[in-house]
Amino acid sequence: MNREQFQKKLETEFQWFHRHPELSYEEYETTRRIRHLLEENKTEILSLPLDTGLVAVIRGDKPGPTVALRSDIDALPVEEESGLAWESEEKGKMHACGHDFHIAALYGAALLLEQRKHKLQGTVKLIFQPAEESSLGALKVIQSGALDDVDAIFGIHSSSGFPVGTVGIRKGSVTAAVDRFEITIQGFGTHAAHPHEGKDPIVAASALVGTLQTIVSRNMDPFSEALLSVTHISAGNTWNVIPESAFLEGTVRTLRSGDRKKIEARLKEAAEYTAKAYGMEAKVRWIAGPPATDNDVEWTEFAEKSARKTGLKVEPALPSLGGEDFAFYQEKVRGVFVQVGTGETYPNHHPKFRVNPAALGGAAEYLSVLGTDALAELKKEGNIP
Ligand code: NI
Repeated sequence: MNREQFQKKLETEFQWFHRHPELSYEEYETTRRIRHLLEENKTEILSLPLDTGLVAVIRGDKPGPTVALRSDIDALPVEEESGLAWESEEKGKMHACGHDFHIAALYGAALLLEQRKHKLQGTVKLIFQPAEESSLGALKVIQSGALDDVDAIFGIHSSSGFPVGTVGIRKGSVTAAVDRFEITIQGFGTHAAHPHEGKDPIVAASALVGTLQTIVSRNMDPFSEALLSVTHISAGNTWNVIPESAFLEGTVRTLRSGDRKKIEARLKEAAEYTAKAYGMEAKVRWIAGPPATDNDVEWTEFAEKSARKTGLKVEPALPSLGGEDFAFYQEKVRGVFVQVGTGETYPNHHPKFRVNPAALGGAAEYLSVLGTDALAELKKEGNIP
């Protein structure tokens, strides 16, 4: 298969995945298709306790360490309006985050690595991960044991911030820790005409929204990247009744674990004492999501070098306060999360979002080089952890 045929094949598969989006934990057809393509390629698929998603391995002729390459595979509950010839065939579902691109690129890497098996000094694992949009799919893969023997891991995400042929790489965090909070303020309901006989949770909740906004602006270093948004507030249901309670929820995004802990502590204090100031009590539920991604310094340099070797231009990655459950892998194994330029578009998760499939061949080549060269790098004396 020459370069053009290879690119064409990946585009065909990419379009299939785009036409058949499936939501988190429901990626049965997607998994079936990936399995079929890998079997056709004679790639070994591991038998793991995963309902959706799968992990394949390519074992080199020589024994050695193990490197993992990861693609997520799920889509979003978005009604597509891209107008593309390969638009979604599933109503209300769309690959609006480029995970179809990731699948096709990793499949391309499987094709290349199978051909280059004799050069591999160890094993490359291909992780087709379910449910990234739920923030928890990576944990399923970790629980399956697939990561236990992995020495280094690499993942890609399509990026509209860079043109085709450019990748964004930087050490440290490129996506944020994503936490969620829920606060209930317990008041005491009464007639709106007799406020002194009750405890008005709406007044306390309103004050609390303002107080919460001071956590980032007054308690955090102005140079730290952090945000706190109250995104939902509800209390009461009519005009002449003071309700019993008020409910608020929202999200906190941070890049450093110290900031994350500090905001959690301040949020709990603010809720408790603001409620108290109004003679009430607040209950806080803190729901921790994935931590911030943390690109390893040495592997980041390696990933930059590999990109240049593949003919890709390297730019500093664009950090985002969005989340990525790839961070769970990086808690266990050193690795790098790379942004692959797929050209300008509407933002991720938008009904008109699109990726330029012209970037597929380069992304597949890059992944296969990362796998091959990382094994060689690990084999160098002292590099195996
Ligand atoms: Ni995504």
